[in-house]
Amino acid sequence: MIELVQGDITAQTTDAIVNAANVGLLGGGGVDGAIHRAAGPRLLEACAALPEVESGVRCRPGETRLLPGFGLAARHVIATVGPVWRGGGHGEDETLASCYRSCLALASEHALESIAFPSISTGAYGFPIERAARIALREIRGHLHRAERPAVVICVLFSKADHDVYRAVLEEAAW
Ligand code: APR
Repeated sequence: MIELVQGDITAQTTDAIVNAANVGLLGGGGVDGAIHRAAGPRLLEACAALPEVESGVRCRPGETRLLPGFGLAARHVIATVGPVWRGGGHGEDETLASCYRSCLALASEHALESIAFPSISTGAYGFPIERAARIALREIRGHLHRAERPAVVICVLFSKADHDVYRAVLEEAAW
């Protein structure tokens, strides 16, 4: 089931919440900053303990890392790194789709019942919101058709404007 919620993802009580991080996984602003503040310093310690796959990179764009939720209500944080929007000709759509697919695959592998996503890449990384919503909802729908878990997928939109875009996209297609 796909749910849309307007609010703060750190308040979600799903089994996992997804963090829109950067390749260094050492925190940042936006939802990354909010999740680290709510989880507490042990999340940063756990991220810093992850091996670098190349200099300064602990998670490549489109990939995911599973971390404990620590001070969050959610048991797990799934860190992913969205694409930086560079006009659409650099594989941004596919990288964003890969974020959703790999987070859902990870949640399924760990038999998580529920997961909450922010609108990955549509803040500091500049990805157009409607285009991102179509990719997100397409990938979530595809996973729900293929897999038992997670059974509940919540898209948490921080602003009403973003929520309205996701709602319109969700309603336009016969999901
Ligand atoms: N809950 C839910 N959504 C939030 C929250 C929150 N507490 N705070 C921000 N958002 C929303 C933003 O409004 C935006 O729609 O998350 C979406 C993603 O925005 P960003 O957090 O800026 O993430 P992104 O665009 O993927 O850029 C990632 O920003 O914070 C840094 O370290 C991060 O370098 C990385 C980059």
